[in-house]
Amino acid sequence: MKEFKIMKNTIEQAIELLRGGDICVCPTETVYGLFGDAKNDVAIQRIYKTKGRPSCNPLICHVSSISVALDFCVISKEQERIIDYFWNEKNRPITFIVNLKENSDISNFVTAGLKTVAIRRPNNKIALELIEKFNGPLAAPSANTSTRLSPTSYDMVVLDLGDKVQCIIDGGECRFGVESTILDITRSPYVLLRPGGTSKEEIEEFLGSGLEINRNDTCIIAPGMMKKHYSPSIPVRINASFPLENEAFIAFGKTDVPYTKNLSLSGDLMEAAHNLFRFLKELDDKQKYSGISIMPIPMDGIGRAINDRISRASYKEDKKN
Ligand code: TXA
Ligand code: MG
Repeated sequence: MKEFKIMKNTIEQAIELLRGGDICVCPTETVYGLFGDAKNDVAIQRIYKTKGRPSCNPLICHVSSISVALDFCVISKEQERIIDYFWNEKNRPITFIVNLKENSDISNFVTAGLKTVAIRRPNNKIALELIEKFNGPLAAPSANTSTRLSPTSYDMVVLDLGDKVQCIIDGGECRFGVESTILDITRSPYVLLRPGGTSKEEIEEFLGSGLEINRNDTCIIAPGMMKKHYSPSIPVRINASFPLENEAFIAFGKTDVPYTKNLSLSGDLMEAAHNLFRFLKELDDKQKYSGISIMPIPMDGIGRAINDRISRASYKEDKKN
């Protein structure tokens, strides 16, 4: 393991940096985020630079409540009903795409020039305290180098960005382990842009109607949904029944095949999501393995998000069409 002389930082230290246009890493219930003042161009440009992220890929604005979002978004009563249900009643990890107010003071770099904006209320004590004390929207992508695995623990952040950021708040392991679901509620029917911690089934049940699923990987509709993403440095093979020679093998549920790691012995998809990125990171070892193979994962509930992440992790550049 690389060693960094990094101190675990406090919320107060983070606030001080954020006020000065600097950035900090803070845990959320899904993955760790790289936070900056959503109204400060310099801070937002720092986020893109630190991640090596293409500037056409907009960021999520994290808010502590709907009323804060109303300062810069146009939200209809019907949209508010949905947001309120998932954020306040259910406390679910879900990001909504809504229209931006014309005169909003959100940095253009946050939205990559789009007229819509992604908003999310994280359900994590530390993240909420940070946003509330900062007293304004904070933009944050996942705290990883672009195309790499999203970090679900303090150690994963340090390994990836430890020499690039000066403030990391330690909040232990993230409960969900996969990012928030992204739902575009500016379109009709609503469009599921990214499967995540809130299941498609639960959203459809609340709405009483089906969602459209975004299958578009272009840089306009959902720029972050690029095919190659979440990738370890060794090849990943999905829907595998057994490992090939020198491959690490990630199992799911009970199996007779010898495995290197098991996402959930009891076949619990929430537990599997929680373990996924950490296992991929731990097995990403060129000296030991030629690649990582993963057993099939059911598509139910959060399984859809797991399958989305591992299929992107397994995407081969040379097969790009
Ligand atoms: O759980 C999460 O959502 C984490 C934590 C840190 O909150 N954040 C996260 O951010 O996953 P990021 O930047 O890795 O993914 C945000 C996604 C990107 O795919 C981006 O393209 C999309 O949100 N996005 C942002 N604004 C958008 C918009 N106006 N329209 C469509 N997609 C948008
Ligand atoms: Mg990300």
